[in-house]
Amino acid sequence: MAERYDVIVIGSGPAGYISAIRAAQLGFKVACVEKWRNPKGELALGGTCLNVGCIPSKALLASSEQYDNARHHLDVHGISVQDVKVDVAKMVARKDSIVTKMTKGIEFLFRKNKITWLKGHGKLAGAADGFYRVEVAGETETQVSEAKNVIIATGSKARHLSGIPVDNELICDNEGALAFASVPKRLGVIGAGVIGLELGSVWRRLGSEVTVLEALPTFLAAADDAVAKECWKIFTKQGLKIELGVKIDKVDPGKQGVKLSFTDAKGVEQLLEVDRLIVSVGRVPNTENLGLETVGLAVNERGFIDVDDQCRTKLPGLFAIGDVVRGPMLAHKGEDEGVMVAELIAGQKPHIDYNCIPWVIYTSPEIAWVGKTEQQLKTEGRAYKTGQFPFAVNGRALGTGESDGFVKVLADASTDEVLGVHVIASSASDLISEAAVAMEFRASAEDIARICHPHPSMSEVMREAALAVDKRALNM
Ligand code: FAD
Ligand code: NAI
Repeated sequence: MAERYDVIVIGSGPAGYISAIRAAQLGFKVACVEKWRNPKGELALGGTCLNVGCIPSKALLASSEQYDNARHHLDVHGISVQDVKVDVAKMVARKDSIVTKMTKGIEFLFRKNKITWLKGHGKLAGAADGFYRVEVAGETETQVSEAKNVIIATGSKARHLSGIPVDNELICDNEGALAFASVPKRLGVIGAGVIGLELGSVWRRLGSEVTVLEALPTFLAAADDAVAKECWKIFTKQGLKIELGVKIDKVDPGKQGVKLSFTDAKGVEQLLEVDRLIVSVGRVPNTENLGLETVGLAVNERGFIDVDDQCRTKLPGLFAIGDVVRGPMLAHKGEDEGVMVAELIAGQKPHIDYNCIPWVIYTSPEIAWVGKTEQQLKTEGRAYKTGQFPFAVNGRALGTGESDGFVKVLADASTDEVLGVHVIASSASDLISEAAVAMEFRASAEDIARICHPHPSMSEVMREAALAVDKRALNM
């Protein structure tokens, strides 16, 4: 007889493993199916985020930033360093050891919470008597388990383009781009999105000449216009070459590197020769061989599983969360959905305000925002006020030498409710949390302005921007 669980989660990325843990905390008997194999061929938990996404990319970003600082930003402090060298193999090994520590950490959390790891590819295999059947194809055998509730958290993978063969050696998606054995002299990147900018920054700092080719005529279209404009200035000054409005015509991999022909924004045919190429043009949901049809479910026209605001599919007890459903492909969005679904199964009444999910792009400086952009408010016809304050006059930022950027607060013109906050700063990823908390509590700009912020700190700029909404910034 098949083993029965209260909850089976398929996929152990941030959406799946967090959901499994929350369900176990709530007293359910839980199993989680995972098939991921790391480069050593070992099965590993943690999904894209821990293995080839958030965690390894941030480790390399930090290492490359140290190198960049040592080469370019210590002199001003009166510190001279000679002969700064980079050992890419050691840097990548450090990144790999962080990944191992984190993925093994989830194995520990599974043991602690008595979650069974079903190893292999999981798929639905019909339903009967109020139980879904889940088949897990392991290394040697296929095991069938049953559960009243199934949570699909199968995540996403890199989108590839036809005519551009990704081998993760010469032409790479995120997986190969996090494991280069040496610094390519010339690096091409297709797509000036989040991965293109983050990984482009890593390899530029380590010495590559980086050219980013973007199809859209606008830079960072999802960000607030003021942020996108400022970032364009900063990144191009740092040496990132970005071509907007291009059409890739041909990609020709050879022994010496890759030749790309593209049509630029003026319609002129251009040739770019690079030693390596990263393709980062978005991600697609993982739904192949998932057995959805066995329970009468299909994916939508974009390949995602349709769910409501609470991640319910049209079938009772069958949920989908994370990158495999609508909404931003962000680890913390998936985690929150995982918690919400586990609590729903337990009969609680959880809720996610998708407008309060923060975004961060880990460039240097970082970019972060939560809520609406100014252009969105204009489109919605909403009356708003703006307050903006630069880090250039903040004592802490000057002390650390990280004075690029600003905080911009958008508030409702009559109620003063905070509608959006946009930050460019070395620590934007941390600063944005205050804004997310404020928006979750539907705070006004005046609320932020009245709260005591530590001095000297970068967070004072958040308060000054909130004061600036009412045209009463104190330090400018
Ligand atoms: P995933 O993490 O993709 O996990 C899905 C898991 O399901 C995988 O382990 C897969 O093996 C498994 N699986 C799939 N199908 C099956 C099956 N049939 N049977 C068994 N197992 C299966 N987001 C951020 O918020 N911050 C960041 O800084 C950030 N950086 C990123 C950097 C890079 C380079 C990339 C590529 C992504 C980054 N992301 C970041 C996005 C983030 O990684 C994803 O949003 C997140 O991992 C999605 O979580 P998930 O659990 O939905 O799916
Ligand atoms: P993306 O959607 O951020 O950017 C893709 C870019 O490629 C877009 O600007 C798009 O216009 C462009 N593009 C698409 N087709 C193209 C073509 N044929 N030629 C040239 N340009 C083309 O996708 P990306 O960077 O691959 O990242 C995927 C997702 O992973 C992100 O959307 C994000 O959700 C997640 N992620 C999050 C991070 C974070 O939170 N810091 C870091 C990295 C990834």
